Amino acid sequence: MSKQPTELNFPEGFLWGAATSAYQIEGGITNDWSEWEKKNSVILSKKYTREGKRYLGWDYLKEDIQNPANYLSGDGVDHWNRWESDFKLLSELGLKGYRMSIEWARVEPVEGEFDFAVIDKYAQMLYSLRAQGIEPMVTLWHFTLPTWVADIGGWENKQTIEYFDRFAQQVVSKCPQNTHWITLNEPEIYTREAYLTGKWPPGRRAIGKYFGVIGNLIDAHKKASRVIRQANPNALVGIAKNNTYFQPYKDRLINKLAVKPVTWWWNRYFLNRIHKDLDFIGLNYYFHRVVNFPLLAKDLDPISEIGVELGPHGIYHTLKELRRYKLPVYVTENGLADSTDEHRKWFIKQSVVEMHSAMQDGVDLRGYFHWSLLDNFEWDKGYWARFGLYSVNRETMQREMRESAKYYSEIVRSNSVKL
Ligand code: BGC
Repeated sequence: MSKQPTELNFPEGFLWGAATSAYQIEGGITNDWSEWEKKNSVILSKKYTREGKRYLGWDYLKEDIQNPANYLSGDGVDHWNRWESDFKLLSELGLKGYRMSIEWARVEPVEGEFDFAVIDKYAQMLYSLRAQGIEPMVTLWHFTLPTWVADIGGWENKQTIEYFDRFAQQVVSKCPQNTHWITLNEPEIYTREAYLTGKWPPGRRAIGKYFGVIGNLIDAHKKASRVIRQANPNALVGIAKNNTYFQPYKDRLINKLAVKPVTWWWNRYFLNRIHKDLDFIGLNYYFHRVVNFPLLAKDLDPISEIGVELGPHGIYHTLKELRRYKLPVYVTENGLADSTDEHRKWFIKQSVVEMHSAMQDGVDLRGYFHWSLLDNFEWDKGYWARFGLYSVNRETMQREMRESAKYYSEIVRSNSVKL
């Protein structure tokens, strides 16, 4: 009888990393979000005071949830000034990959006026990562727009596609050392929140605009991928795609049929249109949805501090679904809001085990980037949702390694997970 394995090994060179985005950590940025927050911080504090009572962490997070200042990104976690010491944290964990983004509003604060000192600073960051033996993966658009782009209608306006190309050209040509480029982050999440639910700027609820923006983002990816390759023939172009596992409740036939169109629209529609313009797929996986036609079913999985069901098993299914594109895959985000660090270790372990199974079943998975390196600004939820491998005290800006990060580091250093 063959013995059950006690650990699962990953292939040599598997890229273990962590992910962030500029607006969520840097601080001191003026863009469409910063303007929107100023108008909405009180409204958001009231909204989450109502909703937060249902969340896991209400008892100990309520002060933060109720405080309007929490919904203003302000100084971020001061990464713009602390990037060098923050990059040391990556090595402290033994990580060899880092996903970050470049803030368009910093690079081009006024239409056509590029701030070359800012581009140089980003280039310096990328050099420094490489010098540390860390492979950067750089996102060009992670939800935020310069105010002058928002003023012409943001992604509703086709002109934005051309402006985005010009921005991409400037950045990519001045960062020749960088190879992994991600054009867009989670187009469907953004479009849903910005144009259907109206929870994010520009706060619209307009189905026509919703479809229009998805179409424009598809074009934006295609065009930007050409611009990136022209600016750097060695570049590898990807997208960070939010896919979800739509799980049929109790495996009933009606539910199996019901998940098909939803899965097609949410997971595949965008990729079907751009996969020829991709060198790799980035998968952002956070949660699953249990479908009990015609509704969503309540799940028995634990619920995170922001009310999200924690179903790490779904990463296996979403990875397997990507095999059809025959492209290398990276998990470019995966994580949870867990200020007390109660579930993070479990979540990381389960996700890594599921990734391993997916690889056994033929998924060409090349790396995993945990969201996030640091506690950061969680969009409309502000600073009370804490996703960091390192906690951050925003008064002192001190970083502290969470216990779960030590566990993640063991996986990284041994390139394996113990069962
Ligand atoms: C986004 C991140 C966000 C994370 C956690 C993803 O949707 O790309 O910016 O912080 O999820 O909610």
